[in-house]
Amino acid sequence: MRASDSPTSSIGGIAAARVAELRETEAATFRKARPKSEAKVGNGMAGFLGGVPMHWMTDWPTPFPILVDGARGATITDIDGNKLDDFCLGDTGSMLGHAPPAVARAIRRQAGRGLTYMLPSEDALAIGPLLQQRFGLPYWQIATTATDANRFALRVARAVTGREKILVFNGCYHGSVDETMVRLIDGKPVNRPGLAGEFRDLTRATKIVEFNDVAALEAALSDRDVACVITEPVLTNSCMVLPEPGFHDALRRLTRAAGTLLLIDETHTISTGPGGYTRKYGLEPDLFVLGKPVAGGVPASIWGMSADVATRYGAYSRTKEPGYSGMGTTLSANPLQFAAMRATLEEVMTEEAYAHMDRLARRLDAGLTAVIERYRLPWHVARVGARVEFICAPRPLKDGGEAEEAHAPELEAAIHVALVNRGVLIAPFHNMMLVSPATTAAQVRRLITAFSAVAARLAA
Ligand SMILES: Cc1ncc(COP(=O)(O)O)c(C=O)c1O
Repeated sequence: MRASDSPTSSIGGIAAARVAELRETEAATFRKARPKSEAKVGNGMAGFLGGVPMHWMTDWPTPFPILVDGARGATITDIDGNKLDDFCLGDTGSMLGHAPPAVARAIRRQAGRGLTYMLPSEDALAIGPLLQQRFGLPYWQIATTATDANRFALRVARAVTGREKILVFNGCYHGSVDETMVRLIDGKPVNRPGLAGEFRDLTRATKIVEFNDVAALEAALSDRDVACVITEPVLTNSCMVLPEPGFHDALRRLTRAAGTLLLIDETHTISTGPGGYTRKYGLEPDLFVLGKPVAGGVPASIWGMSADVATRYGAYSRTKEPGYSGMGTTLSANPLQFAAMRATLEEVMTEEAYAHMDRLARRLDAGLTAVIERYRLPWHVARVGARVEFICAPRPLKDGGEAEEAHAPELEAAIHVALVNRGVLIAPFHNMMLVSPATTAAQVRRLITAFSAVAARLAA
């Protein structure tokens, strides 16, 4: 018998029976509101493995995927005509709103001039200096996904240090980069459970310690065999874990002392501000990665390096055997990406846009916190800029191990569907909510009201 099967057990502080009841009734409500969608996708989509074009579409807790008709601003409409206030925003790909007008215009302009050439366009001339100014590093490359950007940056780190190992923090996610797929379970490094077709022992070349554990980090770096530490400034791919005061200073000091490079992956924490967490908090990465929203939803990513890394990589390249570097992908750095990225950087990711996002995200944080207090739920809210998360555990989390324990999948699934039935979409993997420049105060109010209604049912 699983813990949640016991009539007296609880999940995230809520009686399991109540969670199950909520899940069941909300699933029925969801179906009832979507007869057309159910007819089309209720039994899977023809021709696709597992009935969906991308396997994680079945990770949504709804009985079947929401079949989208269109999205505008921060609103999604499904084919049954249901409108949803979208706080998932493509899990950050649409963090700046769905098809921001400036980006849509740039895409339309470029569409008449070719989509991929393997040659630069004039937009690229503007982008290089924009990236330098905004993120503070002097040398940049364009890729298509954050996964690829991380993979390439790690390759450069290994090349210039001559070291094979990397170090990650427990609970991390940096895309489907094989060498980061490691976890600490019962204090031991292991391959991340569930990996398909992975026969290598990834822990041979990847060290792993808990986030915020400076002593463990120091010990792991002391062998001077780690090429690079790769981390998000805040762990956002487990339940959200904020850095403790002094953690980033220690991370930078210890990596420098050990001759280890520091790769900051801002793909989610770009929610902090136009220059990411890095600029707001004065981090000094050697390598920097940003994907997802950087071209307003067009697949694109950027990765940058310091002058020192660039010089060392130049020297390495002059001595390495000629041949393929292992970094590429044919459609990267195409003119559509340049057009969309330029519009995003110049016209969408502005200080004013972030001021709006931050203001509404604070309001959301306060509103959800007040609901949690009103119903005395053992939960809390965490936030990094425009990225807000309610976590079904009482206190702020210290590391990935605690974050794993705080995860309450059945409860979260029930809440997510209940929110959809009240007109609000949040991210399926965590209780993550993003505020975009297009999000309105009324949408934030509706989310707080919906959350309150669900909390009332759970607390009743
Ligand atoms: C911090 C971070 N880095 C990289 C990635 C990978 O992004 P993509 O799936 O677009 O390659 C993700 C995806 O969630 C992420 O959260």
